[in-house]
Amino acid sequence: MSFINLFRKKNRKLLFTTPSHSQKFCIVNKFRHFYSCDISETDAHNPETILEEAQKKAANIYGVNQTLFLTNGSSSGVITGVLATTKRDEQVLIWSNAHRCHKNAVELAGATPIYYDLPIIEEWGIPDKVTIEVLEPLLSQNKIKTVLITSPSYYGIVSNVKEIKELCNKYNAYLIVDEAHGALYPFSEELPESATKHADITVQSLHKTAGGLNPTALIHSNLSYDIKPYFDKITTTSPSYPLLASIEATINYLNSKRGKYKIAQLISIIKEIRKDCQNIKFYGDDITKILIKKEGISGDELSNILFNKYNIEDEITNNISTMLLTGIGTSKEKLNKLKKALLKL
Ligand SMILES: Cc1ncc(COP(=O)(O)O)c(C=O)c1O
Repeated sequence: MSFINLFRKKNRKLLFTTPSHSQKFCIVNKFRHFYSCDISETDAHNPETILEEAQKKAANIYGVNQTLFLTNGSSSGVITGVLATTKRDEQVLIWSNAHRCHKNAVELAGATPIYYDLPIIEEWGIPDKVTIEVLEPLLSQNKIKTVLITSPSYYGIVSNVKEIKELCNKYNAYLIVDEAHGALYPFSEELPESATKHADITVQSLHKTAGGLNPTALIHSNLSYDIKPYFDKITTTSPSYPLLASIEATINYLNSKRGKYKIAQLISIIKEIRKDCQNIKFYGDDITKILIKKEGISGDELSNILFNKYNIEDEITNNISTMLLTGIGTSKEKLNKLKKALLKL
């Protein structure tokens, strides 16, 4: 049984259970399909076993020891990771400008944050990758239990996770990689290598680039112990079944021939855009994050022109460059419109 099968009409029971909308009543009619899938863990079919099996299958696909489905975003994955690796008063090395869930995770674990800064790539106005040069001085001066890095960065800058893991091993520290923006990596040779191959814990948002519903995400662990008890400390006992189904279906799709083809197609179209738009400068380690700048205008001006003249909204902009995020759902038509606009600039 899979989550999708669970929702098929023939498998439905008369539920005298929570949730109270009984898969029918809906306040907002537009959500009626969503309501019909919204069951809870107390009904028949033993969905807890389904979840366990689906997570084991996912761990196999990702080649890790354990995968947990997150229905509360990568934020909950980062918090789970820190709780699973760090005890009260131990030290965690975190980036001073990281997503706020990193600091929250350290605070919730009762641990002590030790901050590192990253140099700025001046020509692009974005933070550079995490390196041994940045981390080692702090590892050698402190008693760091866990190192937390973000790779790829929001702008698509990827760190050498293998090298950083070796450094962590030298100092007996765990490595957690926030790969929230890299959920497609395990499914394409043309994208950077996924941290799942090296890190103790990797967290990925499926909703950001991989087509999952908001805020679906995954935590992958290569630790030898079960991290679920730590996840249980911060999560609801009534997970959303539509979201769990979205996670299962998304992973199956990414891992399918069709899904991999879709990623390859996305990459190939962006390669063509990069080749054809000689008037624009491109940068970054992850081709799906289209980081661009145009000589003579600022990133903010570029962003405004794209928005006001061509109806194109970017993901993030700084005073030098702007980034257009793509993902598995970005159509060829949409990319062609972007290419036309870029060529006209
Ligand atoms: C680098 C990074 N990590 C973690 C998060 C949190 O992800 P989520 O929204 O899935 O909780 C974000 C969200 O923007 C992010 O950019």
